[in-house]
Amino acid sequence: PFVVTENCIKCKYTDCVEVCPVDCFHEGPNFLVIDPEECIDCTLCEPECPANAIFPEDDVPAGQESFIALNAELAKAWPVLTERIDAPADAKEWDGKTEKLKLLER
Ligand code: SF4
Ligand code: F3S
Repeated sequence: PFVVTENCIKCKYTDCVEVCPVDCFHEGPNFLVIDPEECIDCTLCEPECPANAIFPEDDVPAGQESFIALNAELAKAWPVLTERIDAPADAKEWDGKTEKLKLLER
């Protein structure tokens, strides 16, 4: 499956959800995750993310491995999102910032 990683936190552009054929994105307050049990590896979402936050599970950037389990965990807790919604007003300012994991809201 594909995995949403750290740079989505506080950016949450949601361009990704619109292309997913199986609606496997789940939405939290300031982050989105992919349900690994539903993702069919179609690859469509990866190039849609303006923050380049989506990676195949076996190719997540070094240091981001914990996001694999985090996507699986939070997909069970959060509701499905199927349509693009407005990004946070300050999304651009957060794009590329590091150590955003501590800012994740559940
Ligand atoms: Fe959805 Fe395809 Fe992305 Fe998986 S790879 S989350 S199926 S768009
Ligand atoms: Fe996040 Fe990128 Fe989707 S910022 S909400 S993974 S388009």
